[in-house]
Amino acid sequence: MTTSKKRIAILISGRGSNMKSLVEACRAPDYPAEPVVVISNRPDAPGLQWAKEQGLPTLGLDHKRYESREHFDGQLMSVLEMSRVDLVCLAGFMRLMTPSLVERWRDRMLNIHPALLPSFKGLHTHERALAAGVKIHGCTVHLVRPEMDEGPIIGQAAVPVLEGDTFDTLAARVLAAEHELYPRCLALYASGQAIVENERVSIRAAERRDGGLLVPQIVD
Ligand code: GRF
Repeated sequence: MTTSKKRIAILISGRGSNMKSLVEACRAPDYPAEPVVVISNRPDAPGLQWAKEQGLPTLGLDHKRYESREHFDGQLMSVLEMSRVDLVCLAGFMRLMTPSLVERWRDRMLNIHPALLPSFKGLHTHERALAAGVKIHGCTVHLVRPEMDEGPIIGQAAVPVLEGDTFDTLAARVLAAEHELYPRCLALYASGQAIVENERVSIRAAERRDGGLLVPQIVD
């Protein structure tokens, strides 16, 4: 376990339930990360209000006020640097980033995607999973690369697709798994137990879990 907590920025665009699960996990004294800023590209995002109420530094960076993606990302980059951020956690941040921003944060930026990558990249994952008739669905936490929903996988959680599932029932089941998976993957990565090498993440140690979480292999 590391001695100093990693300083994280959490980027959101809306509800912010994954941000909330990360912030709540960070409250544990032995959790290896602490939130130092919550940023939204939509200043009216409900999640931003919640973060403010928790006393966290928040910033609404309205992307519509920037003349280009490069300008917006430049501003975002300055804020991250000024806040001395170690790791960036994308949590429902619905905005494509320029490759230069992503490269600058290579191996220091995580994302959660509501599907078992590499299946169902992009939007509307639950509708597409239902339409495809898959029996197992889930979510993935991965390191961010310039290509959308690409990057070394830190962890995945699987949930069953049940007879009679609708978008709402399946989305709720996946979201509950997201709220467990993201804090767990961030802890593994921030503590140095998960490391990336040759575009694969290996986990040095991991506790076993029930409840459909696909637990990474213990390699030492
Ligand atoms: C989550 O399903 C996340 O996986 C996806 O966007 C959704 C955001 O939800 N990237 P919330 O804002 O965290 O509640």
